[in-house]
Amino acid sequence: MTIEVSFELNGFGVEIDVEPHLRLLDLLRDVLGETGTKEACGEGECGACTVLVNGRAVNSCLFPVGEVGGTAVTTIEGLTTSNDELSRIHQAFLNRGGTQCGFCAPGMIMSTVALLAENPHPTPSEIRSALSGNLCRCTGYVQIVESIQEATQPSQVTGS
Ligand code: FES
Ligand code: FES
Repeated sequence: MTIEVSFELNGFGVEIDVEPHLRLLDLLRDVLGETGTKEACGEGECGACTVLVNGRAVNSCLFPVGEVGGTAVTTIEGLTTSNDELSRIHQAFLNRGGTQCGFCAPGMIMSTVALLAENPHPTPSEIRSALSGNLCRCTGYVQIVESIQEATQPSQVTGS
């Protein structure tokens, strides 16, 4: 048995029949081929799978596909511009060494998008609090916090 799901993904309409037991993460990666969103723990603990649903950061590994209908989903692929330029957050992560192996970066960046939409100029403490659900094995977080602070200063970065 399948269910029909209709939603918006990165600004484009999607209508698809899917197995009802799938998670949003499975739909994105395995069905739609949007592999920018990563899976690590699969249990809601690491934030690697973070995407935005109606602007809210969610762990897509815990999000049932049956609840996707009618929503607007944004993934890391949705942040590049129509000219394939990096978003200002991507660029700031590059500038500041906010990514090493890069596995956590899509989730970190999507959580950052949600944070900056609510709080365009967060303090380092507010950044750490907002990203407390995103784990990084490589950077020690200092460069990530610096990256996000840089992303709040549009005059120093390029892209949207
Ligand atoms: S893979 Fe979803 S929170 Fe870790
Ligand atoms: S850069 Fe490797 S897990 Fe964060």
